[in-house]
Amino acid sequence: MTRCLAICMRQPDNELIAAECLSLTGGAPDANGVAYCTSLDYVGRSSYIRHGVEIIAQAETFAELTTAIRRARFDATDFRIEWMAHAKQCPIGRMEAIVGVADAIELYYPNLDRPQHRFLLLARDDGFVFGEIVADSQRAYQTHLAKPYRTSSALPPRLARAAINLLPPTIRSMADLCCGSGTVAVEAASMGLEVWAADRDPLAVQITRANLDYFGYRGTVQVADAAEWGQQAEGLVADLPYGINLRRAQVDQLQALLDNAAQRAPVAVFLAAEDLSRRLGQAGFVDIELFRHRPSASGNPVTRVVHRCRSAVFQRQDSVDIAPVGRAADIGVVEDHQQAVEELIRGYHQAHADHDAEALRACHADAYFRFLGGNSDNPLDWLPDVYCSRDYMMEWGRDTAVNEATYQFSLRFISLRCNDELAVAVTQESGRWSRPDGEVIGSWEDKCCVWFAALIEGNWKIVGQYWRDAG
Ligand SMILES: C[S@@+](CC[C@H](N)C(=O)[O-])C[C@H]1O[C@@H](n2cnc3c(N)ncnc32)[C@H](O)[C@@H]1O
Repeated sequence: MTRCLAICMRQPDNELIAAECLSLTGGAPDANGVAYCTSLDYVGRSSYIRHGVEIIAQAETFAELTTAIRRARFDATDFRIEWMAHAKQCPIGRMEAIVGVADAIELYYPNLDRPQHRFLLLARDDGFVFGEIVADSQRAYQTHLAKPYRTSSALPPRLARAAINLLPPTIRSMADLCCGSGTVAVEAASMGLEVWAADRDPLAVQITRANLDYFGYRGTVQVADAAEWGQQAEGLVADLPYGINLRRAQVDQLQALLDNAAQRAPVAVFLAAEDLSRRLGQAGFVDIELFRHRPSASGNPVTRVVHRCRSAVFQRQDSVDIAPVGRAADIGVVEDHQQAVEELIRGYHQAHADHDAEALRACHADAYFRFLGGNSDNPLDWLPDVYCSRDYMMEWGRDTAVNEATYQFSLRFISLRCNDELAVAVTQESGRWSRPDGEVIGSWEDKCCVWFAALIEGNWKIVGQYWRDAG
């Protein structure tokens, strides 16, 4: 299912690297900064991902890899191969490997100075991966270092960009409650987001406007107290002004600011000098995650705790009942999506058969997959709270009984309707789990399964499922 790699910078003290990569590509990097992932669409806007690679071939041994490359069909006009060795004991040297792969790319010639195609050859402990580098970070944050107006409390543009990248990459608008010199606003505007920014200091507002203008970016910047500002957006970032030694009045202000922020956007990122989880919880934020960005030898002297969270206010507004199938079946048919949803549901079963926990988790909405029950099309009969949380899914595949069992399945699509947001599929399915000695531990025949999937951050994910007898 995963066909791409994201290659990130390596900086063990920066937890934002993995979080940004997961948010933008769907995969988290290993200790070497390499992530198997599902999308490279947003690599260009990344702070810490260097390259996105479409995998062409992978194999355990070098001989198997070159055989697979010879068989693969891909354009390699004027190519160059880059080498990356992450194996503890690499069975082959850099030049020998590059020449071996170049020989396997038959019909095409290298052009090291002006390549049209750049390939990456990666040696890992478990074998070799070969793919084409199809995306690079544009490093726009470097350009923004030249902004004309700065303040001593300004964020590094790269960090500001990484914070924005923790928001879902599909959002179209962003609010910055404490814009200061506008570092966050500049990064967000350069990504094409509609930007709303505020600061209670009129000078900061002037500076932010001037910095946006300098780069030719647009944004609405207002003098406002963040505890009262009424602007809403699809995502929110705030680089908070408050340090560890808070005075009483500041604590009250901070809480008022967070309380208001929870009303302003469904998902938010806060940068602070300390862990604000408790205060965020009080304000009505949930799913609070923390990523620490520690001072680096190369410059940034301040440890920042970056929080990502969702506002329960918006979650409550969004949690409407799923329409009964009869109504949902009228949602339409977008053919491009139909194939993706079909692959998603087949992939879900195949992941069970492969015991591939990562692939299975990739099928699910990040935090939520609800089993709705059985034998009724009436939503009033569906189970209210049986769901697989992300934590539960992280456990999947660690269970030896599951790992040793064989999973066989067959499914047929009876109907598959979808629009640009929601899909409802009805399948007829049979299957079974059996032990290594052949004993069947669970089976089902001709069950009718109703699946709900949603297009989340550009990918179709299963969000619910229920079953009934076919017919
Ligand atoms: C850490 S600075 C933000 C720096 C900014 N990210 C940058 O890169 O320049 C915090 C900002 O919050 C502003 N601020 C403090 N309290 C505020 C409030 N209640 N409402 C709005 N802005 C506030 C300050 O004026 C200051 O500009």
